[in-house]
Amino acid sequence: MSDIKESPRIAVCGVGAMGLDIIRVLHSRHANIVAGIVRPGSDKAGRHLGELAGVPGLAVPARADAERALSDARPDIVIVTVSTYLDDAQYEIFSSAVRAGANVITLAEEMLHPFATDNGLARELDALAKRHKVTVTGTGHQDAYWVNLISVLAGSTHDLGSVTGRLSWNVDDFGPTLAELQRVGTTAEEFTRWLGSAERRPTFTYYALHTLAEVIGLTPLGPAETTTEPVIAQRDTHCGVLGTTIRQGRLLGYVDTDVLYTKEGVRLSISSQGKVYEEGETDYNEWNLTDSDGNPTLHLRNSDVQSAHTTCATLVNRIPDVITARPGIVTIAELPQLRYWTGLHHA
Ligand SMILES: NC(=O)c1ccc[n+]([C@@H]2O[C@H](COP(=O)([O-])OP(=O)(O)OC[C@H]3O[C@@H](n4cnc5c(N)ncnc54)[C@H](OP(=O)(O)O)[C@@H]3O)[C@@H](O)[C@H]2O)c1
Repeated sequence: MSDIKESPRIAVCGVGAMGLDIIRVLHSRHANIVAGIVRPGSDKAGRHLGELAGVPGLAVPARADAERALSDARPDIVIVTVSTYLDDAQYEIFSSAVRAGANVITLAEEMLHPFATDNGLARELDALAKRHKVTVTGTGHQDAYWVNLISVLAGSTHDLGSVTGRLSWNVDDFGPTLAELQRVGTTAEEFTRWLGSAERRPTFTYYALHTLAEVIGLTPLGPAETTTEPVIAQRDTHCGVLGTTIRQGRLLGYVDTDVLYTKEGVRLSISSQGKVYEEGETDYNEWNLTDSDGNPTLHLRNSDVQSAHTTCATLVNRIPDVITARPGIVTIAELPQLRYWTGLHHA
C-alpha cells in the first residue's frame, strides 16, 4: 500500500479545463500519469496529454475506449472531471473505474455528499466500490473553502448560533460545462422557466452545507432550502469560455442561497454567486459566525482566491487520503484534515 500511496498510477478521465489543469499540477510534481480518457467521438482522442495540457514530455495518449484504456493502464486511482451530478452517464464512468479495481476521486459536486439526497445510484456505487475494495470520493474547492476552514473556525468558538457564507466565482475560469449550468446568456424568462422545472437539480452549496453540518457534528432537520436569483448583465459583457458577448438584459449567471436548519439550533447558510465577471471583479469566500443570541463572533475572508487552481490542487493533495480510505463512497467528512501532499516533488 505505501508504494501506491507514494507513487500511485493515475488516470485522468475528462480533459476539459479542470482535467488539463490537474494534469499540469500532477506533471509539475512528477506524478505517475498512466492514462487519459476522453469522450467517445472526441477530437482529443489519440492526442498526447502533454500536447493538450501544454506540458512537453508527457507522451500519454488520450483514449476514447475507456474500459480498454483502464485495463491496459491499471491505474490505482482515476480522476474524473466530467460533470456535476451522479446521473446514469457519470455512474457509468465511475463504475467502469471501480470495476477495473481503481479508486476514484472526482470534482463532481454531488459527490461531495451523494447521500444528501435520496439518490439510488449513490447506494449502488457504494456497494460496488465495497465489493471491489476501492474508494470513491468527491472533493474540490468546497473541501477547503466551504467546509474544512469553516469547521476549524467553528471549533474555536464556545457558543455557535449561525454560520453564514458568501462567495463568488468566475464562470470564465472554468469550462463550458459550468457556463451552461449557470445559464449564462439565457433570457430572464428562460431562466424563470428553468428554475421551476424538474431539470433544476440541487445546488453545489446544498451538498456543501450538508457536508459542513456533518463535519461540525450537526444533525440537519431536513434538506437545505434553496432560493436562486439571476444576475442580469447591465451592459454587453464578453464571456471568454463561451467565446461570445452576453447582451445587456441577459444572464451573466446566478446566486444560490441555501439554508440548513439543525437539531442543535445552529443555522447554516451559503450564498454562492457564479457568473461571468466584469472588469475588476475577483473571487472571494467570506464567513461570519454568530453566537446563539445572534451576536457576531468570528469573521473569515479569503480575498482574490484563484478558485479554479485551488480546486485542482486540492484534488491532487487529496489523492493519498482517498487511496488509504476504507472501501465505498467516502465523503471528505470522513477523511483526515486536508494537507499538502509532500510525497510529490517539484522539478
Ligand atoms: N468541485 C469543484 O470545486 C469543481 C470546480 C470546478 C469544476 N467542477 C466540476 O468539474 C466538471 C468539469 O469542469 P470543467 O470546467 O473542466 O468543464 P469542461 O471544461 O466543460 O470539461 C468537461 C470535460 O469532460 C469531457 N467529457 C464529457 N463526457 C465525457 C466522457 N464520457 N468521458 C470522458 N470525458 C468526457 C468533455 O469533453 P468534450 O468537451 O469533448 O465534450 C470535457 O472535456 C464540471 O461538472 C464542474 O461542475 C467542480
